[in-house]
Formats: sequence, structure tokens, C-alpha cells
Amino acid sequence: MFIESFKVESPNVKYTDNEILSVYNYETTELVHENRNGTYQWVVKPKTVKYEFKTDTHVPKLGVMLVGWGGNNGSTLTGAVIANREGISWATKDKVQQANYFGSLTQASTIRVGSYNGEEIYAPFKSLLPMVNPEDIVFGGWDISDMNLADAMARAKVFDIDLQKQLRPYMESTVPIPGIYDPDFIAANQGERANNIIKGTKKEQVQQIIKDIREFKEKNKVDRVVVLWTANTERYSNVIVGLNDTMESLLGSLEKNESEISPSTLYAIASVLENVPFINGSPQNTFVPGLIDLAIQRNCLIGGDDFKSGQTKMKSVLVDFLVGAGIKPTSIVSYNHLGNNDGMNLSAPQTFRSKEISKSNVVDDMVSSNGILYEPGEHPDHVVVIKYVPYVGDSKRAMDEYTSEIFMGGQNTIVLHNTCEDSLLAAPIILDLVLLAELSTRIQLKAEGEGKFHSFHPVATILSYLTKAPLVPPGTPVVNALSKQRAMLENILRACIGLAPENNMILEYK
Ligand code: NAI
Repeated sequence: MFIESFKVESPNVKYTDNEILSVYNYETTELVHENRNGTYQWVVKPKTVKYEFKTDTHVPKLGVMLVGWGGNNGSTLTGAVIANREGISWATKDKVQQANYFGSLTQASTIRVGSYNGEEIYAPFKSLLPMVNPEDIVFGGWDISDMNLADAMARAKVFDIDLQKQLRPYMESTVPIPGIYDPDFIAANQGERANNIIKGTKKEQVQQIIKDIREFKEKNKVDRVVVLWTANTERYSNVIVGLNDTMESLLGSLEKNESEISPSTLYAIASVLENVPFINGSPQNTFVPGLIDLAIQRNCLIGGDDFKSGQTKMKSVLVDFLVGAGIKPTSIVSYNHLGNNDGMNLSAPQTFRSKEISKSNVVDDMVSSNGILYEPGEHPDHVVVIKYVPYVGDSKRAMDEYTSEIFMGGQNTIVLHNTCEDSLLAAPIILDLVLLAELSTRIQLKAEGEGKFHSFHPVATILSYLTKAPLVPPGTPVVNALSKQRAMLENILRACIGLAPENNMILEYK
């Protein structure tokens, strides 16, 4: 059964006019490796840590500034939110289609809240805590192409033509703000569309981005802004001691107009200096150590990298399932072909390399979780191929072959063929990223013994469900398995309202 909303009644939870306060017992373990009677032994000691959470329930008016606003993802997300807001429906050859938010964790998925008269009760994910309604978001942003958003939507060839016609009046007078263009960081084939560019030194470019954020905020009367990179994949920046390895070196390099600071890092510097959360939806290392350092010093949320939309999402489900079932994946081969501008940009070796890196580590945590199947250091063969095939446009093809060793030396091969509009997968993820980033800035916590409430670590691991190569604070384990990432996010939000993690034990019926 489905319910729209609920309220928690518990001595551990207090709803005030402005806040939800919860006291939460975090059940965890402490591990000790100790010498007992001459032999070393692992000892696991269950422990409970008392946490308090405080969530500001005032939902701000949110502005979202997309870098690469005129791209396939940017125009698709903008059009989709307008279509939902305006209740637009359109004729396809099959039926009359209504706008929806399918593919968005916050808008279209549910959580189990309990059982009632023998029935499982589910509520919307977004009912856990007060979140911004997507239709109240004001969108804005930058693009190095000056095409208006209606033409950009047509160029993207993602939406049905009847929908495009209805959206055009809402989008044709909107033109992205000029962006920072540096041909050294993206494929040479992007030069043609770069006609909307901020001039000047890198420092002046950062100052311009700061000015743009302030003007956008002022003009649209928004309380909070989130900036998200959905522009072209850049090549990796070289990480060099003295250049970008610390906050001081990065800001010093900015003064010196060092060529190795990428456009994405420049937008990120501007956002962090403005205390505006910055999310990176592409694979490049925007978050060089100096930028992470800056975000930590300024306590400004950063999150990334690379939207986890299709092939990688499947991988982080399938390999988790196989390894969890005691089956040993030994070879994973992924072919992609796509014909949109992203595919054209990725046809250059340096930008492809960024994608290859972000796609390659996604099974590491699952492999290292099973020392029965894998020797230390052993890893399945894992190959990723991406080809640009203009004809297929935004409809990306992903073909994967998983070969595994099964019982008694047997072999199992699973082959998947995935066909889908790439931007229709990415756009709802962008929405979730900005909504959850905003929400997480309203949550404060403290563990027992900690004097004061504090926000989450500025490197937002809470967003990892949505990213291919989750950015984590130094020294933190990276979790790629999709079900664990979802559980982490859901359980943290549950803790904010004093609910236990979903443990699936259903002891009531045992
Ligand atoms: P796109 O090429 O259609 O859009 C990118 C836009 O960014 C273009 O309009 C371009 O003019 C603009 N741009 C490039 N450099 C810029 C800069 N420095 N400042 C401002 N604007 C700039 O690409 P699409 O399909 O929208 O994808 C965007 C990014 O998202 C790509 O990096 C892609 O790899 C990444 N991504 C996409 C996924 C998907 O399923 N669609 C999944 C994972 C990541």
C-alpha cells in the first residue's frame, strides 16, 4: 500500500517550527586484532554511538546554475521540469504521454515505512524530509555556445517533436551566460560551438563567475544556489606539487594565470569562494587536491564525479549480485557507442581517458569484499570501449559481457544490451544531485562526546549513489555497490527523523 506522507512520533524525535531534532543510536562494531594465548585473533565488539541530528525544515527557494546548460542534459532537464510544472502532455505514436520524473530517486522512488494489517506500507522517498520541489527551482547557467535553450533542445534531438513544439515558447528567449572556454581541456572538435566566451585571465574568469552567481541570485530572488557541471568531459589536469596540491598553491596559481587550471576547476573555485555547493557530473579531476583543500577550509559542499546513469549503474548492481552470490566475475568487457556531442567530445583520446578512468574502478570494493573468490590484489579483466557513431544520436548503446567462474570450474557468461536516450537517464540524476545537495546542507549532526553540531564533511559522500566515481574525503572507503549506496542515503535520512535503518528482518512475521 502507498501513503503520501507520515509523521514520526517518538520520545527521540522533536518537531519544532523550524527544525526536526532526533536522537539516534548508531549500532556499529569495533574491531580488535589481538594476541590471545599466543595467537592473533580478530575480535568484533558491537558498539552503540549516540548521535543527534538537527534538520532545518525551512525549504529555501533554490537556484540551480548548470555549467553546459545548452547541452543535451541541460536542455533536457530544463524542458522536463517545465513540462512537469505546466502539466504538459504530448502525443507519441503509441499514446498520449504525461510529463513525469521517472528515474529520479527523490521524485519517483519509495521507501518502506512499516507494515499495517499484514501489508507493506510505502511512502515517497521525498516524504522523508522536507525537500525543494523541482518545479520551484529557478534554472540558469553558462554555456560556451550561445544557442537559446529551445534550439539547444532541438539540437539535442531527445524529446518527441510534439513536446518540443509545446516547450519552445518557454525556452526560446533563454540564452546561457558566456562560459570559460579552454580548448586545451576538451576535444578540438568542440571549437565550432564556442562562440559565447568569457575573456580575460583565469583570475578574471573566476571573478566573472562569482559575479554571475551573485547576479543570478539577486535577479531571481533565490535563497540558495547550487552549481553543477554538466559540460563537456575535460582531460585530466596534471596534479603538480606547488601548482594545485594545496589551497595555497591553487590560489597562487590562479594569481599567476597557470595554464594547467581547467575551466571546471575555475567554476569550482568560484562556487566554493561564494559558499555555493558545486557538483561535478563529468569524469575529469576537477577536484584537484588544492580544490578539495579549499572546500574543506571553507566548509563548502563539493560532490562528484560523473553521473552514474546507465552501464556503470548496471555494473554496480550486477557485480555486487554476482560476488554476493559467491560467483567470481573474471572478465568484464563494456562497449559503448553514442552519437551525441558527448560522444563526439569523447572521441579524442585525452577526454576518453577521463571516462575510462572513472568507469574502471567501479567494481573494486565488491571484488575486495570477497577474499574467498579473489586472492589479494587479484582483479577481473575490465575493459571499456567508447565509440562515436553519429547516426544513433543521444540513443546510447551499451553492450556488456560478464564472464564468471561458477561451481566446480564451470563458466557463466552474461551479455547485456542497453539502448536508451542518454540524457533521459542523466537529467533525473542531475535533479536528485541538486535536491540532495541542498538538503544535506540543512542537516547538522553530532556524535556523543562532540560538543557542537556540525554539518556533514564538505566532500559529500551522501551523493555517491548518483555518481560513477564517488568523491570521498581522504582516508574514507569508496563504496560503489548501488544497493549499499542507496541504503546509506536512505538510512541517513531516516536517522534524521529517528527511524532505524531498514533491516529487512520482518521479525513480526517470523
Ligand atoms: P553535451 O555535449 O550535449 O553538453 C555539454 C555542453 O557543455 C555543451 O553545450 C557545450 O557547449 C558546453 N560546454 C563545454 N565546455 C564548457 C565550459 N567550459 N563552460 C560552459 N559550457 C561548456 O553533453 P551532455 O550529453 O549534456 O553531457 C554532459 C556531460 O555529462 C558530459 O561530460 C558527459 O560525459 C557527462 N555525463 C553524461 C551522462 C549521460 O548519461 N548523459 C552520464 C555521465 C556523465
